[in-house]
Amino acid sequence: MSKLPLDRILQSQGFGTRKWCRELVEEGEVVINGETVTDCRNTFETDGLEFSVYGDAWKFREHVYIALNKPADYECSRKPSHHPGVLSLRPEQFALRDVQPVGRLDHDTTGLLLMSDDGSFIHAQSSPKRHIPKVYVATTHDPVTPQLVAQLLKGVKLHDEPAPLAAVICRMLDTQQLEIVLEQGKYHQVKRMLAAAGNHCTALRRTEIGGLKLNALGLAAGEWCYLDEAQLKLLAET
Ligand code: URA
Repeated sequence: MSKLPLDRILQSQGFGTRKWCRELVEEGEVVINGETVTDCRNTFETDGLEFSVYGDAWKFREHVYIALNKPADYECSRKPSHHPGVLSLRPEQFALRDVQPVGRLDHDTTGLLLMSDDGSFIHAQSSPKRHIPKVYVATTHDPVTPQLVAQLLKGVKLHDEPAPLAAVICRMLDTQQLEIVLEQGKYHQVKRMLAAAGNHCTALRRTEIGGLKLNALGLAAGEWCYLDEAQLKLLAET
């Protein structure tokens, strides 16, 4: 529990510099509990604080944890070169809070992408030691065969990888579609594994991370949502 002056609260939530936040308040753009607050010296308990800025409702969040349904043709890099960046799909306030993707998906991969401004969460979710299962649906150029599935389960040797990499689960969903579960997050891993096994990935979608399922979130392509306690618990427990 902590009580903070309003300009510091707004700054912590990504509304700009302290000076800018002070101006927002003085101009009557910030409403708390139905009242316009115009004096920044007012302090508020941050825990559970709800407020609006320019008429938009916000909740105080010490950290932001979101899930995005990444559309195709967006890059995860901070400095995208050929396509817009996924960072442009977040509200402006999240940019100022440095909300960033947890790991990366290729520009043409769609599906579940986590984002946060909590360094320990990002680190924990990206740590190879945790072996967090990630579920992908891959569309293949050539038909899926039992041999392909067996090969991906047994492990395939990738250039620059000392040991073969294997899927934890791999099953055929359709004649040219596979579900593949990986516990590592190597560069282009699904595509490279499929290529090493003699096929070619023509489309890739991430559908689950840990116990968190994209379908359960009900997000259209490009939409995001905050993760609640239960969803974060699912991720922490995996
Ligand atoms: N594997 C890939 O090949 N690409 C991704 O974006 C994710 C996993």
